[in-house]
Amino acid sequence: MNRTELHKMRKEYSPNPLDIKNISPDPFTQFGLWFTEACQQLNANPSELSEANAMVLSTATKDGIPSSRVVLLKSFSPDGFVFFTNYNSRKGEEISENNMVSLLFFWHNNMRQLRIEGAAVKISQAESDLYFNSRPRESQASSALSLQSKSLANKQIFDDDIKELLESGQTIYRPENWGGYIVNPHYFEFWQGGLRRSHDRIAYSINTTNIEIQWDIQRLYP
Ligand SMILES: Cc1cc2nc3c(=O)[nH]c(=O)nc-3n(C[C@H](O)[C@H](O)[C@H](O)COP(=O)(O)O)c2cc1C
Repeated sequence: MNRTELHKMRKEYSPNPLDIKNISPDPFTQFGLWFTEACQQLNANPSELSEANAMVLSTATKDGIPSSRVVLLKSFSPDGFVFFTNYNSRKGEEISENNMVSLLFFWHNNMRQLRIEGAAVKISQAESDLYFNSRPRESQASSALSLQSKSLANKQIFDDDIKELLESGQTIYRPENWGGYIVNPHYFEFWQGGLRRSHDRIAYSINTTNIEIQWDIQRLYP
């Protein structure tokens, strides 16, 4: 594809405006509404390969060098957003030196983007065990044996190790270096694509001056 063809690629977005008057004062509730709608959209289009709970996690080193990758949201509550990974992976190492992260959802069927920023902390070992033990055995074996993000000279050796572990029939326990993080947000931004590029952006910023958590809500220029 040449540059001119790329320049011409653009879509008219859905006429489904987002208004401060109609949104929840609580960003977690608003997230729940949008997440449910994203799931409904995908359920209505079974051929759609996207996963509504796929999100881009961005981390940065202590020197501010950023990196991004997709992970799956596994639960959310007013305490935050939980995903699971290898604590010794690149993302895990970056979080250990700088725990400020961002999460990004792009639900293209609804023309919606959601940005979340906050601090990531490890969840309890008991919670990680609970999720690990609920996973399919193949996923457990892969997580237990993967040195995620480290150099792998021979994939066959990794595949053989997984096969051997699966065939051994032994219980696969969660390795200590694998578990969940919860991202506790201080910022949310809901973006709704609009007609004629008149997009809506509504930002929620945490107001820490009060003892009770309050969210300041404002509209941003698109
Ligand atoms: C749809 C999708 C879902 C993924 N889910 C996860 C996940 O939940 N946890 C995870 O560690 N990696 C997941 N990955 C792989 C990551 O994107 C990434 O390759 C891996 O975590 C290593 O990242 P790092 O080297 O930056 O730490 C997923 C990838 C895709 C495309």
